[in-house]
Amino acid sequence: MNKRRTCILGTGAYVPEKILTNDDLAKIVDTTDEWIMTRTGIRVRHIAAENEATSDVASPAALRACEAAGISPADLDAVILGTATPDMLFPSTACIVQANIGAVRAAAFDVSAACSGFIYGMALGKGLIETGQARRVLVIGAETLSKIVDWEDRNTCVLFGDGAGAAVIGACEEDRGILSINFGSDGRLWELLHQPAGGSRMPATVESVEKKKHKIHMTGRDVFKHAVTHMSGAGLRALEEAGHTGPELDWLFPHQANIRIMEAVAKRLEVPREKVYVNLERFGNTSAASIPIALDEAIRGGHCRPGMLIGLVAFGGGFTWAAAIARV
Ligand code: ACO
Repeated sequence: MNKRRTCILGTGAYVPEKILTNDDLAKIVDTTDEWIMTRTGIRVRHIAAENEATSDVASPAALRACEAAGISPADLDAVILGTATPDMLFPSTACIVQANIGAVRAAAFDVSAACSGFIYGMALGKGLIETGQARRVLVIGAETLSKIVDWEDRNTCVLFGDGAGAAVIGACEEDRGILSINFGSDGRLWELLHQPAGGSRMPATVESVEKKKHKIHMTGRDVFKHAVTHMSGAGLRALEEAGHTGPELDWLFPHQANIRIMEAVAKRLEVPREKVYVNLERFGNTSAASIPIALDEAIRGGHCRPGMLIGLVAFGGGFTWAAAIARV
């Protein structure tokens, strides 16, 4: 009998209705569709409504994942949600989603690993399943980054979008499943990408709000360099641990941050461009949500089919990085 493995049993995604185009952004800040397309690969992004929080986008994605997996939310043993934009500092957004979807038996908690949050959550869920502590785990990546973007800063406001993706994972003994996960972090570099205020270091004050300390602060060029290095490194290590090579992958799902980052990572992993799943143009960088949204789209669109070998690679604030190899 094969070793007990953790499989992806079903996926789901949800994005808010409102769409913001590059031309819309050009009316707010000094930018152009041409600059944004050539430097990032992004054309439009979905933006949450004023009364729409991260749990509101996460819950429909979660329900769709449960439906695709053929289970009731009441069957879930854990809800793990990766986000950098929780509804509030506490309780966790996972607990709010748990209530929304009726996952009455589940333990629920958030993972703070920025854009790597979904794969970090998968690693934790896989651990719970393979040590017999859980049978069915819902892993969600969900963000409403529009709430913490400085809409006067052209360096950052053009990059991000809102949305959620989710996967139900569970034990399987077939010749498939998550073959390896490699993850890491370098906290020495936290200042290159962070939201300074709102926590215990700098609680909200009139001054902190006036100085926009509750917004995203990013040193783009450095993030770019580290993203390429660490996504490639994690990807290569995960491939090696799984006993595979980049050219063997049917699909690579890189974190959808910037087309130039994705292409550089694919090159280092020796994955041809046509096997790199890209939907960045339509969603922007949705941080922890980007990989599960792409995966769900590829599965529902019939592009990613049972038996295919896939790679997931992410990088985000912290810095954090993670990669997973799976046979779907
Ligand atoms: N429109 C027009 N001009 C702009 C814009 C804009 N939206 N944004 C920046 N510029 C200008 C800059 O002000 C600069 O002008 P200057 O030379 O007069 O100062 C010029 O463009 C070049 O700026 P650079 O920062 O060198 O541009 P670069 O090619 O590095 O692209 C970008 C910037 C897109 C932010 C890139 O560095 C990047 O993608 N970095 C990664 C950031 C990222 O993905 N962060 C997301 C979170 S982490 C993650 O998800 C991996």
